[in-house]
Amino acid sequence: MEKKAVYPGSFDPMTNGHVDIIQRGLKIFDKIIVAVLENPKKKTLFSTQDRVRMIREVFRRQDNIEVKAFRGLLADFVRRNRSSTVIRGLRAVSDFEFELQMALMNRTLDSTIETLFMMPSLHFTFLSSSLVKEVFTLGGCIQGLVPAVVERRLTDISRKPKGLKKYV
Ligand code: PNS
Repeated sequence: MEKKAVYPGSFDPMTNGHVDIIQRGLKIFDKIIVAVLENPKKKTLFSTQDRVRMIREVFRRQDNIEVKAFRGLLADFVRRNRSSTVIRGLRAVSDFEFELQMALMNRTLDSTIETLFMMPSLHFTFLSSSLVKEVFTLGGCIQGLVPAVVERRLTDISRKPKGLKKYV
């Protein structure tokens, strides 16, 4: 039977740390579903559609990666997609407390769900979507930190009149 895991997140935008976790996850699972959170209450730089589109572009040559948007409870999404494993990346001890809360809440909602924590490559342990947005907005170089498609989209946005300023 196909081993399938769900990798959820905001991915606003996807970083190379996320890409690294997905590629590592594929050493364990046959298929990974990247679940992009659609939360109308949370202000994001990229729309859900944009985030899904960019991630699909990043993995366009890998048919063992599916990208979907989701609303509501992650536990429901995992069940609907006939999986029982959630992958989350852990960069540092500081990530752990919140991740533990989420993992245990998801298990409380559905006792069949297991959360697997994976460590990214050492190169990406400092990396986050919010830092990428901040550095880019302040004119820093983000090459090698995000997929090329994300870098292009950030450049496009920064050329618009309001630019990125209102998001950081
Ligand atoms: O990339 P993020 O923002 O750290 O991802 C957080 C995410 C999307 C995994 C989390 O917010 C989530 O699962 N949201 C769905 C709502 C939900 O299921 N909440 C209860 C369980 S914590």
